[in-house]
Amino acid sequence: MATTHVPATRTPLSESPILKAYAEKTRGSARLAARAQTVFPDGVTHFARFLQPHAIYVAHASGPRKWDVDGNEYVDYVGGHGALILGHSYPSVVNAVTEQIGRGTHYGASHALEVQWGELIQEMVPSAERVRFLSSGTEATHMALRLARAYTGKPAVVRFSGHFHGWHDHVAFPSGGAAGILTGIAEQSLVCAPDLEKLAQLLASRDDIAAVILEPTGATFGQAPLNGDFLRHLREMTAKHNAILIFDEVVTGFRVAPGGAQQHYGVKPDMTTLAKILAGGYPGAAVAGRADILELLNFRGDQDKPQPPAVPHQGTFNASPVSAAAGVATLNALRDGAIIDRANRTAAAIRDGMNAALQRRGLGWRVYGEFSGFHLFVNREGDGAGVEDIYAGRVSAARLKGGTPMELIHKIRCGFLLHGVDVTGFPGGLVSGVHTGADVDRTLAAFERVLGMLGEEGEL
Ligand SMILES: Cc1ncc(COP(=O)(O)O)c(C=O)c1O
Repeated sequence: MATTHVPATRTPLSESPILKAYAEKTRGSARLAARAQTVFPDGVTHFARFLQPHAIYVAHASGPRKWDVDGNEYVDYVGGHGALILGHSYPSVVNAVTEQIGRGTHYGASHALEVQWGELIQEMVPSAERVRFLSSGTEATHMALRLARAYTGKPAVVRFSGHFHGWHDHVAFPSGGAAGILTGIAEQSLVCAPDLEKLAQLLASRDDIAAVILEPTGATFGQAPLNGDFLRHLREMTAKHNAILIFDEVVTGFRVAPGGAQQHYGVKPDMTTLAKILAGGYPGAAVAGRADILELLNFRGDQDKPQPPAVPHQGTFNASPVSAAAGVATLNALRDGAIIDRANRTAAAIRDGMNAALQRRGLGWRVYGEFSGFHLFVNREGDGAGVEDIYAGRVSAARLKGGTPMELIHKIRCGFLLHGVDVTGFPGGLVSGVHTGADVDRTLAAFERVLGMLGEEGEL
C-alpha cells in the first residue's frame, strides 16, 4: 500500500512560491490580465480559463505546442477544450479553411460542403440517420433535449450528477436549480447519481421522463468513468421506459473512435450531440440521430400548404462554410482511426510515466484515464486506492470529480506552466495525435519538478 505524506502546514495560495515563480515568468500575461479585469468578469472569457494569479495569454500555437506573449513555450494538453485532436493548425485543415475564406465565409444559403460534412457524420457515427448543424455543444444538447420532449410529449429529462452538457438552462446546475434559472425548468431537469439501480428506481417511479442524457465514457471524459456494461444496461432500460437515450459525444465524438463512444462500445443511442472535434477547431456542432425524431425539424403538411416545423430551428452560423471546411478536413483525417490510435498510445505513455513518478515518491495519488485523456486523482485520504479500484467503481465519483481542492489545482496548473506544460483544471489533459515522444518526455520531467515543488509547499 502506498504511503502519503501528511504535511504539517500547507503554504497558502497567496504565499505560494509556485505561483510567485509563475507570475515572474509571465509578466506580459499579467499585464494583459490586469487590463482584462476591467473588461471581463474575473478577467476571463470562459469559466475554465480562470487561473490564479492570472491565466497565460497565448500569442501563437502549432502542432502540440503553444507560446505565450512572454515567449514561453508550452506542451498543450488543453487542446482547444478538446477540439484539437489534430493539434494546432493541422496542415489539411489550414489549407481547407484558407481556401474557403477566399471563397466567402457566409452564403446565407445551402452549400456543397455542408452536405459533405453531414454525409461524413452519417458514415462515421452509427446513430446518425439524420443530422442538424448548430454552433456549439450547448446548443446541441439544448436541441436534443427539446426534440426528446417534443417527440415523447413528456416534460422531464434525466442527466447524471457530474456530467457536463453545456450551460443552457436545462443543464447548467448541479441539481435543484441555480441563480437565474426558472424553477419550472429546474424541476423538470432531474439529476440522478450515475448508478443504474437509482436510475431504474427513478424511471419506474414516474411516467413523464422524455430522455436520459449522459457523457458516455463518464463525467468529464471519464474522470468519473463508466463502462460498456453500464451503457448496454442503460440502452435496455431507457428503451423499456420509452425514454430517448442521448449520448453527449461533444468530447468523445471522433476521439474515442472515428464513430465515437457508441462505435467503441457497440451501443446505439437514439440521439447524439457532437461539437469540438466535429468542426476541427472552429465553431460548430450537430445533433444526429433517428430520422423519425429529427423529422420534427421538417416543415409539415403537403407541398401546397406547408406548415412550420413542430420544432422550429434557426441559427445564423449553422453549418458555416469555414467551419464546414475545417470539419470535412478533420473528419477525413480521422476516418481510418490511425491518428486516434496514436493519441491513445501517447496518452497511455503519459499515464504510465506519471504513475511511475508517483510510485517512486511513494505517493498514493494516481493518474488514470482511457483513450486520449489523463486525469490526476489526488488521493489525500491515503487509502491506497489504485487505478484498478477507480475502474472497479470502488472510488466515489464525488472524490474523483471535485475531490481536489481548488487551491491545489491552481498550484498544479501554475507549476506545470512554470515548467512548460499547459494542463486542464480537471486536473489532467487531452492528448492529440500529433504529440510526440519529446512532448511526453518534457511532460514527465515537468511532473517531477511540480511534485518536488508541491512537496516543498506541504501539498503531498
Ligand atoms: C460533454 C460536453 N457537452 C457539452 C459541452 C458544451 O459544449 P460548448 O462548449 O461547445 O457549448 C461540453 C463543453 O465542454 C462538453 O464537454
